[in-house]
Amino acid sequence: MKIKEAVKLGNRGEIEYILEKLLNKDKIFLHLNPDYEFDEKQFLKILDLRKKEYPLEYIFNEAYFYGDRFYIKEGVLVPRDDTEPLIDIVMKELQKFDNPTIAEIGIGSGIISITLAKKIKAKFIATDINPIAIEVTKQNLKLHNVDIKLYLTNLLDDVDEKIDVIISNPPYVEEEWEFDALKYEPKEALFAKDNGTYLLKQIVKEGLKREVKLIICEMGYHQKEMMSDFFEKNGIKNFYFYKDLSGNDRGFVVKL
Ligand SMILES: C[S@@+](CC[C@H](N)C(=O)[O-])C[C@H]1O[C@@H](n2cnc3c(N)ncnc32)[C@H](O)[C@@H]1O
Repeated sequence: MKIKEAVKLGNRGEIEYILEKLLNKDKIFLHLNPDYEFDEKQFLKILDLRKKEYPLEYIFNEAYFYGDRFYIKEGVLVPRDDTEPLIDIVMKELQKFDNPTIAEIGIGSGIISITLAKKIKAKFIATDINPIAIEVTKQNLKLHNVDIKLYLTNLLDDVDEKIDVIISNPPYVEEEWEFDALKYEPKEALFAKDNGTYLLKQIVKEGLKREVKLIICEMGYHQKEMMSDFFEKNGIKNFYFYKDLSGNDRGFVVKL
């Protein structure tokens, strides 16, 4: 198959990315050599996987987050652009802290804490219940030359240290929402009981119990009211919600 035929078979940007990877050539080469012929067997196999909505990130074992490249494999959540505002909010809120201890609940591939650890002076701890997440994060710690203490545990169960700040992008999709597009990603990374708010509430309770100073979480865009009610019922007065890049409510900041 020729390059000029291949790029017509789907989204041009995505096809070019696949060709760059398969042929080990850059975009300029693809543009300058439309008649270059390649063996299409693997290319067509990938297009077939993509038709079934299998994530591109699992095929090439990489994902980009906040401008950096991360290692990814099947078994961990694919990083989402919607999580990038969480980084900005954490950095803004941490300006008043001096070398805090930050615990991330549900580290996944490590994108959040690793991105932050490269930008701010803090001690990082992170947990996940998924051993593949811990393994993938370890790879990304090496890739980015960052140090984070990892625990394979529920919430912060095995963590004894004094924590100043909790951050998390926990599972918050309602259990009934079984989208096709999500079928290849781990269920424990996506779905939660109580209209998706179960883990969010557990995390806030954990923060109250441990007397942390700050809790910052990503949430679903329809969960603002449920979380506001929960904060009020638990005597939490100092909180606000932030929006994602599309203008949807996407997370909260609780100051204790
Ligand atoms: C939505 S993913 C986020 C992953 C990563 N932080 C990111 O933003 O891409 C949620 C993560 O929380 C983990 N998780 C789910 N329940 C948990 C629990 N009870 N305690 C700790 N981690 C949990 C999942 O395994 C998953 O890795």
